[in-house]
Amino acid sequence: MNTYELIASLKIKEIYGKLPEKIESIHHDSRQSEPNSLFACLRGFTVDGHDYYLEAIKNGASIIVAEEKLEMDLNENALIVVKDSQKALAILSSKFYGYPSQHMTVFGVTGTNGKTTVTTLIKNLLQKNNCEVALSGTNGFDFDNEISPSNNTTCDVLTNQKMLHKAYKQGIENMIMEVSSHGLIQGRLWGIDFDIVTFTNLTQDHLDFHNTMDQYGNTKSLLFSQLGNDLSQQKVAVLNKDESWYEAYNSMTPFEVISYALYSEADFKAVDITYYEDETHFTLLSPEGKYFIQTKLLGEFNVYNILAAIASVYANGDHSVADLARTVKDIEQVNGRMQKLEVEVPISVYIDYAHTPDAIEKSISSVFPFKQNRVIFVAGTGGDRDALKRPIMAEKASAADYVILTVNDPRFEDPSSILYDMEKGMRHDNYEMIPDRKEAIMQAIDISEPGDIIIIAGKGQEDYQIIEDKKYPHNDMEIALEKCMAKFHFKV
Ligand SMILES: Nc1ncnc2c1ncn2[C@@H]1O[C@H](COP(=O)(O)OP(=O)(O)OP(=O)(O)O)[C@@H](O)[C@H]1O
Ligand SMILES: [Mg+2]
Repeated sequence: MNTYELIASLKIKEIYGKLPEKIESIHHDSRQSEPNSLFACLRGFTVDGHDYYLEAIKNGASIIVAEEKLEMDLNENALIVVKDSQKALAILSSKFYGYPSQHMTVFGVTGTNGKTTVTTLIKNLLQKNNCEVALSGTNGFDFDNEISPSNNTTCDVLTNQKMLHKAYKQGIENMIMEVSSHGLIQGRLWGIDFDIVTFTNLTQDHLDFHNTMDQYGNTKSLLFSQLGNDLSQQKVAVLNKDESWYEAYNSMTPFEVISYALYSEADFKAVDITYYEDETHFTLLSPEGKYFIQTKLLGEFNVYNILAAIASVYANGDHSVADLARTVKDIEQVNGRMQKLEVEVPISVYIDYAHTPDAIEKSISSVFPFKQNRVIFVAGTGGDRDALKRPIMAEKASAADYVILTVNDPRFEDPSSILYDMEKGMRHDNYEMIPDRKEAIMQAIDISEPGDIIIIAGKGQEDYQIIEDKKYPHNDMEIALEKCMAKFHFKV
């Protein structure tokens, strides 16, 4: 791209050296810099890009964007000094990639729990109604069901524009994005022209990062204010009306709000819900009338997720509620989210991703309607992360008849100290602490009796365990399956 065109909308404080005529790529990781590229020095939490500009130049970068004057050979390179290089990178990368989000329908889903589930449901609803979609989130980038991993639920500002561009070039009209609070506060979503933004819920998590629930809630509100103020466009916010943040988020945007709820009056409401061991049925009250919904997804929280997804796709305006309601029954359980182990054994085993206090509460209460014997809950939490939530997780886990406390990615922390923190929240004595996650899962199955329900929570479909800074192969589902085979003497 022509350099002068690229930097035209940038507010430049100082400029040094000779600008090359063209730029072929943009980077903020010096290891990826290449000839004829622009390198933006970003100040991160752990790394400062200003320490790496010489490496970027060595790899061929010809323009450096930085927040201060840096020493370099100005006969060979150009230096652009700006006030805020993260904002500059948002402006430059949006321009470089041709503002792809403006040409697509972009869905953003935020909230403490349910983002992966709701984005996956939106994807399925659209695909099954003949739309091309791409998705980005916890499980990586999903283009046409081809998945490539990503480091974060919400990627950095440059990767986001690149990904949107790639999807747009492939003719994909709908981009669905999981939006994390970290992504919002760090400006990783700047430059994305969202069309439909959806809120699931807000409960305790990440307080090591956001300090208070108010701060956490305000951060999430950025997604709604970022819908903008240009009323010549048609944009919609989809909000959970049972949540106390509903009114605040409603007031953040001038655009139409579509509400969903179980307990309040709302545009999309579920009534007459019946929970089965492997299905859920309910009646959907919608702006287009009443529909019967049958789904393989389990638990009340998934009724919320289905309402959120139907309302979001309906908000787009191209699909009738009748079509969407019909499609729901063909959608499979989301991997690792209350996913039932499909084996003929006298116990029921579910793999779930619950790793926040609220998710644990929801996960356990979702099996109560069909509980015959005990509920055994395997709870695990990570090391070097939000220690405040540990006892509260155990307190919520106490709703189960028997609890096994274990770890989930201990990182550099001593597993026993993680378990000790959790133990403080236990409300009854029916529990044990097993630091090794594999052993904990095997023990849950070992002690089970016919009619018991086991929920193995925290890891979902992830296939690794992080110990120190290394990832080791680990799969809850495989361990559970193997142990069930050994205990109940069957083969698959
Ligand atoms: N709407 C909901 N309300 C409360 N809990 C939920 C909801 N949806 C899912 N959960 C619980 O949270 C777990 C994680 O769900 P999901 O992966 O969809 O959330 P997420 O918001 O994407 O999480 P993350 O922030 O880790 O990406 C599920 O396994 C389930 O236990
Ligand atoms: Mg997620």
